[in-house]
Amino acid sequence: MALEKFVDSLPIPEVIEPVSQINGVDYYEVVMKQVEQKLHRDIPETTVWGYDGVYPGPTFEVRTNVPIKVKWINDLPVEKHLLPVDKTLHGAEPPNPEVRTVVHLHGANVPMDSDGFPEAWFTNNFEQVGPFFTHKIFNYPNIQPATTLWYHDHAIGITRLNVYAGLAGFYLLRDECEDQLNLPRGKYEIPLVIQDRSFNEEDGSLFYPSQPDEPVPVFPSIVPEFFGDKILVNGKVWPFLEVEPRKYRFRFLNGSNSRFYKMRLSSGQPFIQIGTDGGFLDSPVVINELTLAPAERADIIIDFAGFAGQHITLTNDASSPFPDGDPVDPDTTGQIMQLRVVLPQSGDDTSSIPAVLCNSEKPTEQEAIRTRNQPLIEAQDQFGRLLLLLEGLMWFDPITDRPELGDTEIWNLINPTPDTHPIHLHLVRFFILDRRPFNVEHFLATNEVIYTAPAIPPDPNERGPKDTIRANPGEVTRIIARFGDFTGIYPWHCHILEHEDHDMMRPYEVVEEMEE
Ligand code: C2O
Ligand code: CU
Ligand code: CU
Repeated sequence: MALEKFVDSLPIPEVIEPVSQINGVDYYEVVMKQVEQKLHRDIPETTVWGYDGVYPGPTFEVRTNVPIKVKWINDLPVEKHLLPVDKTLHGAEPPNPEVRTVVHLHGANVPMDSDGFPEAWFTNNFEQVGPFFTHKIFNYPNIQPATTLWYHDHAIGITRLNVYAGLAGFYLLRDECEDQLNLPRGKYEIPLVIQDRSFNEEDGSLFYPSQPDEPVPVFPSIVPEFFGDKILVNGKVWPFLEVEPRKYRFRFLNGSNSRFYKMRLSSGQPFIQIGTDGGFLDSPVVINELTLAPAERADIIIDFAGFAGQHITLTNDASSPFPDGDPVDPDTTGQIMQLRVVLPQSGDDTSSIPAVLCNSEKPTEQEAIRTRNQPLIEAQDQFGRLLLLLEGLMWFDPITDRPELGDTEIWNLINPTPDTHPIHLHLVRFFILDRRPFNVEHFLATNEVIYTAPAIPPDPNERGPKDTIRANPGEVTRIIARFGDFTGIYPWHCHILEHEDHDMMRPYEVVEEMEE
């Protein structure tokens, strides 16, 4: 039976309050719990994992340069994961416990011991901890410009399952520049996390495959990627939101495991993008279509003035896998949510869209002291399954990338595979320089890059600070970053979570500056 769309109103996650202060610093506690939650009017209650017992978790509202402390507590089932665990994957092998968690604040400039390193996992009540676990309370210094961050689980080998089970939430960082912009705020500012899920119809439980369609000699086995057939926003399947005929600010986050979205508004009106993953654009960019890969964010203004009475659908037209896989089903995965311009306007809309936003410090190519070639490579694992690698190496191979603290580097993300991979670096915000087509066959045979066309500049709405970038097939995507503000070991990986868990993740280390 087809599920009726737009019957549930969009939930807005609660803002979390600190429980106390430690040495004058706000201190929060968040408990991960297994709970039953109604995800659609006509789906029986679904068992999910939620931070503070809700999926998605509560929203953090924090200020730049005002640190906070968070104790993430695992009160999840001890023995058995909610979803099928593949114990052949890195870090998921016995005797490591099935249920492990560690929280990563995605996009944050944080010390390594609070980054949520995949091997810093812990179990219920901290009974067991991973080799990189150091302490229970994480410190978030918030030393970066205002932006939309998000937190999600990052435990080695089961990140895809923990996030799919519901472990994700927003972390909104604000600063003085943002205060002065006079953007829509309060009830006119709404975070939207878009995720796809499938359900077992009988009982409403989450469906996640136990093995790929092509049989493999491992059970349960990871799948090359996973695409759900229902689209959820803030934890509801195809919700609706009632709005006033005025400007709203939406914090879009693609929180899906593998699915990309190419979004439009059925009214034909544009999105006005003001920010990217890591902060504001220099000035607003008007777009008719918004593409987001897993983990990418977009800070968007939509002006509903003049649309009173309309029911506007937010649609999706991104193939899966992206960009050349199966098209969406216009009746299901082709729709995300509905915006109903039915509320009376409760006063004049005094918010504005300033022509100049907040500008971010961009490193220049001249400052780069090193360029690293980082190929994205398709290989096979010992069971004959597709294995995607960075630099041709696995997570547990020795570290090969060691930028010195403060160094600016250019990374060439060389993608000879047929899919777009959203590449994410922890710790830093980077900028995209350009993308350039190259001869894939020649590269696969010789490891040499021969460009076949001129470089393509980033899209205007990609020119702000990024932490996750689409590395398109057949292109070298060049990004530039200044490495800091901390030394230590951090991951970089593909944010298609099925890829990340199956070795498309590498550690890199920021090392102390060497004396000349
Ligand atoms: Cu959102 Cu290492 O990731
Ligand atoms: Cu991250
Ligand atoms: Cu990937």
